[in-house]
Amino acid sequence: MGAIPRDRAIDSTLALATEGYCFISNRCDRYQSEIFQTRLLFEKTICFRGEAAAKVFYDTEKFSRQNAAPKRVQKTLLGEGGVQGLDGETHRQRKQIFMSLMTPEHMAALTELTRQQWQAAATDWQKEDQVVLLYGAQTLLCQAVCAWAGVPLAAAAVNQRTQDLAAMIDGSGGVGPRHWRARLGRQRSEQWLESILAKIRTHTLDVPENSAAYAFAWHRNAAGELLDQKVAAVDLLNVLRPTVAIARYITFAALALHKYPQCQQALRQEPDYAKLFTQEVRRFYPFFPFASARTRQAFDWQDYHFPQGVKVLLDLYGTNHDPHLWSEPEAFQPDRFRQWPENSFSFIPQGGGDHYINHRCAGEWITIRILEMSLDFLVNSVTYAVPNQNLSINLSRMPALPKSGFVISRVQPLDN
Ligand code: HEM
Repeated sequence: MGAIPRDRAIDSTLALATEGYCFISNRCDRYQSEIFQTRLLFEKTICFRGEAAAKVFYDTEKFSRQNAAPKRVQKTLLGEGGVQGLDGETHRQRKQIFMSLMTPEHMAALTELTRQQWQAAATDWQKEDQVVLLYGAQTLLCQAVCAWAGVPLAAAAVNQRTQDLAAMIDGSGGVGPRHWRARLGRQRSEQWLESILAKIRTHTLDVPENSAAYAFAWHRNAAGELLDQKVAAVDLLNVLRPTVAIARYITFAALALHKYPQCQQALRQEPDYAKLFTQEVRRFYPFFPFASARTRQAFDWQDYHFPQGVKVLLDLYGTNHDPHLWSEPEAFQPDRFRQWPENSFSFIPQGGGDHYINHRCAGEWITIRILEMSLDFLVNSVTYAVPNQNLSINLSRMPALPKSGFVISRVQPLDN
């Protein structure tokens, strides 16, 4: 049995904060190994990357999600009691609520609502000197997803709700004010959704039966019990928050359109190019750096021993940039997806494995649909200018974004 290469530092938490998305890959390269052991927040942690690593990481016999996420991430991004921390049959049943929302017709309805919001937003933006695309896209997605999910959203509340949902994502990897904004955003959002669920349960608010709000309000477990109201709010938030987060991918997509203008031509001429472009945006740009779990029991994998209960990080960003899996991984090349054989373990921007059984993102399909639609809108339904601005991406900030949030000006909707 080989020894897992050990990081030399006593604790690498600070190195993780400064190296960000590259932390795991830097060490894999340094130790010439796809796996190494380190200490993060003073806890022994095994980190690995690549297809084989993803395959074992999504083996539900070997890994558990209980107590896998740090408290500060639960207090901001994830919440407590939601689907992300469940295992086995309890996880499968809760996950089914999310997946039942993902029928083709229902996903098409969200995409259509989003398109309508794009149209309304572009009309408004004509009057503005400049618009930060990130913020604009967050707002329109918040309006679309609330309408889709059966969550009433008064016009006067749109900005505050959008900011709270966005803060939970932006602050998930932060410290200081960024972290506290995220905690406050979560507290306010959970209270808001709990009050809506209470109204649904007391029949003072009627929502469509196929909506997320209805599903979480009325889901009963095998014993016939409703979900705890707070837990239902956490999981309803697990639909709203990440849908607003698609604005980050839209921002990256707009950046890619700007940096690689030849792609605009291809998008106009070839209907299927949007699919390739969307996949490459999700592969190339940084979003979730890694996923975390704990070993359920001790086991051996390849030449290594994993003790029971140890924390393990799978490098999502590093796997999507793994030179063993992707040729020229640091080049933006949508064409690479033309010949790509579907693989649930080598391309994992939203987690890997099976959507129903594993913790792979429940919203991956709607993310792809909304991104494709938004790309089409940006290329074919509106014109805009891109003024000089700081578009650099700092990979030590998690989650990362172009510094300016992508400012656009002279927005002009096209009549089509
Ligand atoms: C889980 C990424 C959008 C709902 C995840 C995971 C990642 C991820 C990395 C964890 C995978 C793991 O732990 O193995 C993203 C990214 C998105 C996105 C980058 C782009 C904005 C969405 C959307 C929804 C959603 C639109 C709306 C339904 C969820 C849920 C989980 C999840 C409910 C937990 C699944 C589980 O624990 O079984 N996502 N996601 N996500 N995502 Fe997304």
